[in-house]
Amino acid sequence: MILQLSRNLSRAAPVLSRSVHSGTRPASTAASKLKSHRQLTSEEIYVREDKYGAHNYHPLPVALERGEGVNVWDVDGNRYYDFLSAYSAVNQGHCHPKIVAALNAQASKLALTSRAFYNNVLGAYAEYITSLFGYDKVLPMNTGVEGCETACKLARKWAYNVKGVPKNQAKIIFADGNFWGRTMAAISSSSDPSSYEGFGPYMPGFELVPYNDIPSLEKALQDPNVAAFMVEPIQGEAGVVVPDQGYLTTVRQLCTKYNVLWIADEVQTGLARTGRRLAVDHEEVRPDLVVLGKALSGGVYPVSAVLCDDEVMLTIKPGEHGSTYGGNPLACQVAIAALQVLEEEKLAENAQRMGELLRSELRKLPKDIVTTVRGKGLLNAVVIKETKDYNAWKVCLRLRDNGLLAKPTHGDIIRLAPPLIIKEHELHECIDIIQRTILSF
Ligand SMILES: Cc1ncc(COP(=O)(O)O)c(C=O)c1O
Repeated sequence: MILQLSRNLSRAAPVLSRSVHSGTRPASTAASKLKSHRQLTSEEIYVREDKYGAHNYHPLPVALERGEGVNVWDVDGNRYYDFLSAYSAVNQGHCHPKIVAALNAQASKLALTSRAFYNNVLGAYAEYITSLFGYDKVLPMNTGVEGCETACKLARKWAYNVKGVPKNQAKIIFADGNFWGRTMAAISSSSDPSSYEGFGPYMPGFELVPYNDIPSLEKALQDPNVAAFMVEPIQGEAGVVVPDQGYLTTVRQLCTKYNVLWIADEVQTGLARTGRRLAVDHEEVRPDLVVLGKALSGGVYPVSAVLCDDEVMLTIKPGEHGSTYGGNPLACQVAIAALQVLEEEKLAENAQRMGELLRSELRKLPKDIVTTVRGKGLLNAVVIKETKDYNAWKVCLRLRDNGLLAKPTHGDIIRLAPPLIIKEHELHECIDIIQRTILSF
């Protein structure tokens, strides 16, 4: 079944009413001063953020001020194990000394040139990352969503210039449950109303098929106007949804058969998180495009990238795509260090081993509370059976009280994704915290 995104509307855009934007409100000097003269309590921190910040997140009540390795500390000095790792951006651990040293050294030398000029780091980074992952070229961006959007633009260009799709007819197929960020394009492919509702009109040319469903995918790919299929090897934000063994292999075969580009969104699953350098390495398959982000900087700076070969990458010409910050020397130096840490510290191997230990221990928990334990490497989730006495949010609050930070997703799912540097004795301590917490309900 192909779910045509019926939200696509016409291109007519209403003219913005001038009055909406004409009012000015000068910032008061007193009010805009940072109140740094005294340490705020956690409660005061929540209230201030709530008062002056947009309400687009619902954070767990804990106010952090320091991080090192697998731990973070709140403003009262309480230590926690971080089992979210900033949505897998901190795979190398908080404030990794090698990455911070690279950041500091380059920041005091040359941070940003824009791509109007060459800099002496981008080429070194491009050579390193392309040889590490085995692609001809890299296109550097900043956030994950920009990386994914770049991959979609490359796919459309390739469709018109190489595949021969008629002008403005290119389609990109996505999987139900996908998440690749919050821009207009990203939400246009979303099947989650909390992502897209109220933000239309949406991007045309996007279609959905169910995840982990080969017959539906094959039907969709037969359309000659399909440029690409973009998919996460494991759906992270959907709640760590792991497809059947062999899914990625068949995706590769079908994309080749129908001359469609396969884009692997490895923003969350990549960079050792699932126990391999890339999650697609579990099936030893090679996507046409790979999108990386998050841990590409070890959490100290937004760095993302698209990797692909010349046939696709060289369809975009000077002036047709870019970003002021993309490929800046600071980002490149940080990314080199972040990748080196993954390799030197063998973090994929550790994630694989620690993940097996974590899942096997968590599977001993009573099934009437923890109904499912799933994941690969250190990208894992438990599904909590909700009752009137407890739910995933309450479990996370009690985990916090017991010294471990995790966040619920989609109501009843808790993602468990510590930094990949976690040692066995630390993991045992964490397993003990999780078991004690769950059994306390
Ligand atoms: C698979 C995937 N792709 C893309 C993104 C977007 O990354 P960013 O938030 O850096 O834009 C995310 C973020 O969670 C993600 O999980």
